[in-house]
Amino acid sequence: LATKEVSVAGVEPGQAVKTIWQGKPVFIRRLTEAELEADAQTPLSALKDKDARNANIPNGLATVENRTVDGGFVVVTGVCTHLGCVPLGTEPGENRGDYGGWFCPCHGSHYDSLGRIRKGPAPDNLTVPPLEFISDTTIRLG
Ligand code: FES
Repeated sequence: LATKEVSVAGVEPGQAVKTIWQGKPVFIRRLTEAELEADAQTPLSALKDKDARNANIPNGLATVENRTVDGGFVVVTGVCTHLGCVPLGTEPGENRGDYGGWFCPCHGSHYDSLGRIRKGPAPDNLTVPPLEFISDTTIRLG
């Protein structure tokens, strides 16, 4: 796999950046304390897909710990698990859907701020690509 380094310097809680890796969009969002708390309070039983879908954590559950990295960054492939559209919610002012994460306008899938599918036709959570923090402010994808 070709790797890519992405700087998250200056990404404050509540902000997000977008990059492209292996021809696909990757969304990186830094969650606020309130978002992390709300996600932690969502019982797994409320989730349509309980799997972490995290390449770094095979067989994990879709908990806050297994869907975030370095205390509050969410990194997901920006490809809706229904039919592959690019969900909205990364750019400022875009529709984040009913659960404050991402919204796929193609057929109305709503993802929460951890990228977990909460409503609509998509079957699975947005996937977390292979990644690693290689410094305080740099994520390496791949
Ligand atoms: Fe996203 Fe259908 S492709 S809801």
